Amino acid sequence: MSKLMYDFGLVGLGVMGHNFILNVADNDFTVCGLDLDEEKVRSLIEAGGDSQKVTATTEVGTFVTSLSSPRKIMLLVPAGDLVDKAIESLLPHLDQGDIIIDGGNSFFTNTDRREAYLKEKGINFFGAGVSGGAEGARKGPSIMPGGNKEAYEYIRPIFEAASAKFKGEPCVTYLGPKSAGNYVKMVHNGIEYGLMQLTSEIYDVLKKTCDLSNDELSATFDQWNKGRLQSFLIEITAEIFMKDDNIAEGRLVDNILDKARQKGTGKWTSQNAMDLGIPVPSIDIAVSMREISALKDIRLKADEIYSRPEPVVRDKSELLKQAEEALYFSFIVTYAQGLHQLAEASESYGYELNLSEVAKIWRAGCIIRAALLDDISTTFSEAPGLKNILMATSFVTKVQAALPSVRALVSHGVKSGIPLPGLSNSLTYFDAFTSGRLPLNLIQAQRDHFGSHTYERIDQEGIFHTDW
Ligand code: 6PG
Repeated sequence: MSKLMYDFGLVGLGVMGHNFILNVADNDFTVCGLDLDEEKVRSLIEAGGDSQKVTATTEVGTFVTSLSSPRKIMLLVPAGDLVDKAIESLLPHLDQGDIIIDGGNSFFTNTDRREAYLKEKGINFFGAGVSGGAEGARKGPSIMPGGNKEAYEYIRPIFEAASAKFKGEPCVTYLGPKSAGNYVKMVHNGIEYGLMQLTSEIYDVLKKTCDLSNDELSATFDQWNKGRLQSFLIEITAEIFMKDDNIAEGRLVDNILDKARQKGTGKWTSQNAMDLGIPVPSIDIAVSMREISALKDIRLKADEIYSRPEPVVRDKSELLKQAEEALYFSFIVTYAQGLHQLAEASESYGYELNLSEVAKIWRAGCIIRAALLDDISTTFSEAPGLKNILMATSFVTKVQAALPSVRALVSHGVKSGIPLPGLSNSLTYFDAFTSGRLPLNLIQAQRDHFGSHTYERIDQEGIFHTDW
């Protein structure tokens, strides 16, 4: 290892860490990596070439002393105990003012705990969500950092250089104190779950009721990706339909088991939205659908017990138009719900989030990047304090115009026995959110009837109870 003082340190040389180091080095910073696995250390040094910008070691003391002060050390290790272990191994070697950045999908309360613990020792701790997968890490991810604002200035040049760029603007910004970064990344993933579920439903309805081939599905998604639905998820969906299977006949997508796994970030988004009292049903149902998908054995048996209607065959061009409008509508609703959750979390947890900036750093690099986010960012910048984009005049016309198609498509799914829970939940959320009067007066009456829980009236102030 050379005697150079390195600008940046990274612990965990898995594919994300390896790639992120090469990305940072491409941007003219020197980087040292740490991993206990000698093979990973060797592979990184080899990938770094002769430039002297990259080195790596298995020895924590050597690693820490090779870094310039204040040390900027990023952890890219799996969320959970390993983060605490990595922190403990670094601590004896660190000085006051050094900075540790957790780049994993850590649960936000763990980030708060770690930040408080390290603050007592004079170490600045950042939770910084990184989105974009292995390719994003190498070519430019979206980075969502939260922590101490002054300390962020030390890491800002590195993150701005290594992040994805949208029309030249870096897809990273200081988001807020404490766990603001991890929280924003968690909700990013919740939205990701929602968008993926919606896309799979459109695939189902087009395949089952219009008999679209994989070639036609690919062409459809490709065409949509050139319009207002332009997004990473739509782009890769078009690619997926074209991939041949190299083990069996046909296209790979048809031979993949319909059981979706999950690591937990979508579920955390839903759970915390409930704690905050903010409805995010398009995300909730996406989590539930992964759970239903996992019950494959019982689903197969239930499929034999119950009959379902024959899919209603529809005119292709009309259905395609409705599908595009329904997808656009439900994408808007899903972003609206996730961002509404962020607005509430910002107040409840003191994150001081700027939602326009959040939408801005999601415009490139991350999994939910989409043309829509540019509109969303502008909307929030024009209306600071806005909580739900469905209330913004810029979205009213777009949403209103799509509604007849959404209603037609959801009814088509119901008549054909095709589950469209993401689309229908987005629609019913919208119908409820935009209803001046809901039937929940009856629920209040029931609560008061069986439990004397009291109710309020529409015509008088105060709390009432009736002897029913
Ligand atoms: C990203 C992704 C990533 C996530 C995977 C898998 O932003 O790069 O969100 O962080 O871990 O998408 O998530 P699930 O296994 O829960 O689907």
